[in-house]
Amino acid sequence: MLIRRPNDIRSSEITDKDLYLGRRRFLRGAAATAGAVLAAGLGPRIALAARQRLDDVRKTDFGKGETPNSYQDITSYNNFYEFGTGKADPAANSGDFDPAPWTVQISGEAEITGEFTLEDILAPHPLEERIYRLRCVEAWSMVVPWVGFPLGDLLQRFKPLSAAKYVEFRTLHDPERMPGQRRPVLDWPYVEGLRMDEAMHPLALMAVGVYGEVLPNQNGAPMRLVVPWKYGFKSIKSIDRIIFRETPPRSSWEKAAPNEYGFYANVNPEVDHPRWSQKRERRIGASAFASKIPTRKFNGYGEQVASLYSGMDLARNY
Ligand code: MTE
Repeated sequence: MLIRRPNDIRSSEITDKDLYLGRRRFLRGAAATAGAVLAAGLGPRIALAARQRLDDVRKTDFGKGETPNSYQDITSYNNFYEFGTGKADPAANSGDFDPAPWTVQISGEAEITGEFTLEDILAPHPLEERIYRLRCVEAWSMVVPWVGFPLGDLLQRFKPLSAAKYVEFRTLHDPERMPGQRRPVLDWPYVEGLRMDEAMHPLALMAVGVYGEVLPNQNGAPMRLVVPWKYGFKSIKSIDRIIFRETPPRSSWEKAAPNEYGFYANVNPEVDHPRWSQKRERRIGASAFASKIPTRKFNGYGEQVASLYSGMDLARNY
């Protein structure tokens, strides 16, 4: 595969000693698991879908005291329309998807742009586990032990220009490999965006794993956003493009139904979705008889993020 790497990037800007360590860290798990599975006589397709542990993941206090959903819940009840619109479809239909090799194109208002391998993107970033609540716009929620690193640390490496007021993210567009994209359910590719200060907020996470293991395909392999104070649809999966922009990008859901899905999409029990209430949520995995729990503003992360929106009317800027 041809990777364009602009000449004006000094390698020290985008790589360092950790790159080599990190690259080895990422590949070692993959090779070891694939080898073990192949040795057991199973085919390469199963090897790709096999679970791979991530080394050197630092535990953090994020979400301490919360009970995470089971691995089974997190990987079998998904929204990932690229693999079908049913909750079980992503797990059922993404087994053949191979997220390696993977490249990420960086463009727009930044000093450093170009196409980078996933290893170049990930290598300098130490991985940590953060337990975050994920509140879907469909009024259900989960608690997930994500593995990742702060999104802002990644974005800063490309030296955004002062004109970069927003950042757009895109999911891979490849209907051959993502069968859901063969149907016009959304205007593909899936697009999401954040205001630059939201993207730089220390809670915004670029995730590459769950439960200490490489992100399963159905959860957005090889890397996806997790923006815990926003409805789940902002947490775009399988990102292969990042564009620094002066003006707000238009997300796929805004295009599909602008009166239902706004750019901000902050979790807000005071603003109903036009077709249902956002006051309460069903925690996935809870007994069918368990009552719904109250939804908290900014999904309970208001203390950390409310100041990003001071002076804004959040009923209009939904
Ligand atoms: N990203 C892409 N590319 N395509 C999608 O359909 N669904 C979103 C978000 N990211 C989606 C996506 C929605 S609606 C939710 S609730 C979360 O992914 C679900 O993430 P999970 O399946 O890991 O729980």
